[in-house]
Amino acid sequence: MNAVICSGYIFILYLLNLQLVAVADNGSYVPTENIVLNCGSSTSEFVQYDGRNWSGDIVSPYVPSNADTKSLVVRAPNTLQSIPEAPYMTARIFHSQFTYTFNVTPGPKFIRLHFYPASYMDLNISNAFLSVSAANFTLLHNFSASLNAEYYNLAYFKKEFIVHVSGSVLQLTFSPSYNASRAFAFVNGIEVVSMPLNLYMRGDDGDPLPLVGHDNKVVNIYNDSAMETLYRVKVGGEQIPSKYDTGMFRTWDTDEVYIFGASFGIQPCNMSMLVLYSDDAPPYSAPADVYRTSRSMGPSDYGLVNLNYNMTWFFPVDSGFLYLVRLHFCEIDQDITKINQVVFTVFLNNQTAEEEVDVIGLGAGEPGVAVHRDYVVMVPHVNEGKQDLWLDLHPYKDAKPMYYNAFLNGVEIFKLSNFDDKSLAGLNPPKSFFSDAKGPHVAHFNRSPKKLKFILIGCGLLAVVLPIFLCLLLFRLKVIRLRRVVSWCGLTVHAPSRIERAKKSSLCTQFSMREIKLATNDFHEALHIGTGGFGSVYKGSFVGGTTYVAIKRANPMSKQGVSEFETEILLLSQLRHHNVVSLLGYCNEDGEMILVYDFMANGSLHDHLHLRRRDQPPLSWIQRLEICIGVARGLHYLHTGTKHRIIHRDIKTTNILLDHNWVPKISDFGLSKAGYPSLVTTNVKGSIGYLDPECYESLKLSEKSDIYSLGVVLLEVLTARPAVSVGEDDEHVNLAEWTMSCLENGNVEQIVDPNLKENIIKECFELYLGVAMKCLAERGAERPSIGEVLENLVLAMHLQKNEGNVPNGNERRSDNVVLQGNSDLTPGVEFSEIMMPIGR
Ligand SMILES: *[C@@H]1O[C@H](CO)[C@@H](O)[C@H](O)[C@H]1NC(C)=O
Ligand SMILES: *[C@@H]1O[C@H](CO)[C@@H](O)[C@H](O)[C@H]1NC(C)=O
Ligand SMILES: *[C@@H]1O[C@H](CO)[C@@H](O)[C@H](O)[C@H]1NC(C)=O
Ligand SMILES: *[C@@H]1O[C@H](CO)[C@@H](O)[C@H](O)[C@H]1NC(C)=O
Ligand SMILES: *[C@@H]1O[C@H](CO)[C@@H](O)[C@H](O)[C@H]1NC(C)=O
Ligand SMILES: *[C@@H]1O[C@H](CO)[C@@H](O)[C@H](O)[C@H]1NC(C)=O
Ligand SMILES: *[C@@H]1O[C@H](CO)[C@@H](O)[C@H](O)[C@H]1NC(C)=O
Ligand SMILES: *[C@@H]1O[C@H](CO)[C@@H](O)[C@H](O)[C@H]1NC(C)=O
Ligand SMILES: *[C@@H]1O[C@H](CO)[C@@H](O)[C@H](O)[C@H]1NC(C)=O
Ligand SMILES: *[C@@H]1O[C@H](CO)[C@@H](O)[C@H](O)[C@H]1NC(C)=O
Repeated sequence: MNAVICSGYIFILYLLNLQLVAVADNGSYVPTENIVLNCGSSTSEFVQYDGRNWSGDIVSPYVPSNADTKSLVVRAPNTLQSIPEAPYMTARIFHSQFTYTFNVTPGPKFIRLHFYPASYMDLNISNAFLSVSAANFTLLHNFSASLNAEYYNLAYFKKEFIVHVSGSVLQLTFSPSYNASRAFAFVNGIEVVSMPLNLYMRGDDGDPLPLVGHDNKVVNIYNDSAMETLYRVKVGGEQIPSKYDTGMFRTWDTDEVYIFGASFGIQPCNMSMLVLYSDDAPPYSAPADVYRTSRSMGPSDYGLVNLNYNMTWFFPVDSGFLYLVRLHFCEIDQDITKINQVVFTVFLNNQTAEEEVDVIGLGAGEPGVAVHRDYVVMVPHVNEGKQDLWLDLHPYKDAKPMYYNAFLNGVEIFKLSNFDDKSLAGLNPPKSFFSDAKGPHVAHFNRSPKKLKFILIGCGLLAVVLPIFLCLLLFRLKVIRLRRVVSWCGLTVHAPSRIERAKKSSLCTQFSMREIKLATNDFHEALHIGTGGFGSVYKGSFVGGTTYVAIKRANPMSKQGVSEFETEILLLSQLRHHNVVSLLGYCNEDGEMILVYDFMANGSLHDHLHLRRRDQPPLSWIQRLEICIGVARGLHYLHTGTKHRIIHRDIKTTNILLDHNWVPKISDFGLSKAGYPSLVTTNVKGSIGYLDPECYESLKLSEKSDIYSLGVVLLEVLTARPAVSVGEDDEHVNLAEWTMSCLENGNVEQIVDPNLKENIIKECFELYLGVAMKCLAERGAERPSIGEVLENLVLAMHLQKNEGNVPNGNERRSDNVVLQGNSDLTPGVEFSEIMMPIGR
């Protein structure tokens, strides 16, 4: 036994490549260096973020002694947006070259740079173009944090690099890319974290990697190349925040935004599966939860359907670089135990990367074994800027496997430094129109009704096209690759690249009255599906009835009127999220105000809870939790994911719509406000029963008002009682107060919807109810942030699925959770930790 007990950890000596890897008894790596710096801050006392203590760089030994003369320390202006204090609210500004010096052990290191492009002092952040180098590699050059943040619609972000340190010193140098007097560079936070030597590199004795598409070429990745992590994705299920990584503080994002079209398949998972690691994939290579969730093409008996399409993801990358792609696999299905049961081909950028992947074969003949495969692919320099890197999986028919299926558990994509100039720098994204938030970004198409089909696609909204493709898939028709060429109804359109599409989705179409009338059969009664404060809603279809849209027509008498119509167009045309309803277009001819949305096949959450038809089964508890998590995600996006923070102001179950897959979408942005600090409203709006009492009194708007309304929604989901009901004496009974009184009287069981047949696990119930009650705290400041709500709901789901066991073995993710006290962790913020580049 070569295990030594040392200060509570068990260190196992991995003698591979003569490297000593310190590993805790749960398999996590114990980094030799784990330096986290809150730049521009002088606090020697620590500020917690992602489970680590971030100390100010002013008091650190890493800045030169004349740091004051060479740089400025600044504080970001206050904003109501929930920006984490460390590392984002302070920054160090450089007008000339500035070097941080870290004394470290030799070996590979993660370098993570955190940026929050805000207006610091009187500096114009658009003038910040920075160059960063480390160990003779150029990590960034002419990099504009503000252009990137605008383009990806993020308030703050981080970039991750891997460089090798040969000596004992790592120098990290920042400089402005120009000499102009106004030019400057800045950084908010720096991490230097060590990693196992051969985690990603192939040492001298490792096998070289095949270069995809070049039969005889292989690539060695030695310690003389630097890398940039572009994507680290857990396929299926929830994101894993850096704190729960295997000791290296890597963030594992969800794959939702990268999955292409109809190929989203199903998401098999087994959260209690014991993951077996090996020498090739040691326990620190990825957290067990990466292997416990997955995405597969479909149930095994869908074989023939699966043969007709590829499961596809796409990742925008810079042209002219080599990329290391690591795919993580683990067979979750305990019935797959033999080789040749599931065999599939991996394609990268249209080329075969590996013809036959048989995960059972790779994993020593057992399910539950973690394996990964590495490939190198060249993305040629065909045009400036970004292009998509495609990953396709397809059943390998020639092997005659028992099932035609394919699956994936995780993906990591790294850009490799250029050999010649040792650089990783790419171009800035183009200026996005988000910077010009003056009016709705609407495209005016010049067209005749004949070209209607064109418009649907031209509208660029994936959401319209997806259901069609899903239908095609279900009808076992051949699905043609959508991205490059959309071929449908004999019409061929060159679809835009993902980046272009992301931009185009902000453009919404202006429809003519004639088109709207055609689509709704002149507002036929039979197509009338609802009435709201705004007016009537019709179900319509533009193209031969294949796909439906919801058409909302303002009542000309409507008091809510023009400004809400405009708000809705302005906001929704800029938003793009899985859990926010998509606006396809509008029409304002003939004095009419008409909005066109995706049709939500399953109606509103309100109707499912309160007006369920006899033939509909009640929503199960898991379904309800999933819906709540989706709503929290959508709200998290509105509160923190967008540059201009958005307060919805009318969160209620009637505004939560469910699509054909029961994915909840937040709708009705008529009352919403896009965030500018210190909003004071003289006009309290919202719905009775959901309205934040504090906002009502103080007339101050904050996102905490949405949290209150979300709390009411959570209770409604649990109890299936309306937000306001009429009590015995005809007085209105508020759901929040009713629940409180039940709890005070100890009638806890009484509040649960009697239709919920399944057993709610006690821990899950307590956590859920606790979150809901915390959301309903009288004072906004006492309510949790949306990130905290989201994290706790996810945990509640884990508890339910694992029957009360906490994920990840020995560690409870939020032990302080609810009911009592304020959380001293800042769990919420981790959900907004996002690696660049990412599109959402
Ligand atoms: C593994 O153990 C280490 C040290 O005991 C702890 O810091 C870490 O959080 C644990 N990680 C997981 C994923 O449980
Ligand atoms: C962070 O600092 C505080 C105060 O110095 C200390 O109590 C705590 O243990 C530290 N946490 C970690 C994760 O190092
Ligand atoms: C900042 O600079 C950009 C381009 O240099 C300019 O368009 C913008 O108006 C400036 N903003 C302010 C507040 O001066
Ligand atoms: C950087 O390059 C210079 C000159 O080639 C060399 O002397 C120096 O050792 C290199 N530094 C590192 C950290 O590799
Ligand atoms: C790379 O590895 C070689 C030995 O394989 C070593 O001599 C060299 O110093 C290493 N370079 C760096 C930058 O770590
Ligand atoms: C900036 O100016 C200095 C001297 O004024 C010069 O040496 C340096 O090359 C210039 N850098 C750039 C990027 O133009
Ligand atoms: C989950 O995996 C474990 C093996 O680690 C197995 O015993 C259990 O049956 C699996 N659960 C399901 C639902 O497949
Ligand atoms: C991928 O393959 C299709 C059909 O074989 C071809 O039309 C397309 O141009 C290819 N794309 C790339 C990037 O090679
Ligand atoms: C799957 O992708 C590969 C590579 O792009 C392509 O050659 C193949 O035709 C695709 N198969 C289907 C069924 O779309
Ligand atoms: C730096 O980036 C900006 C914005 O993308 C671009 O306009 C400019 O040409 C770049 N400058 C250099 C020297 O590459």
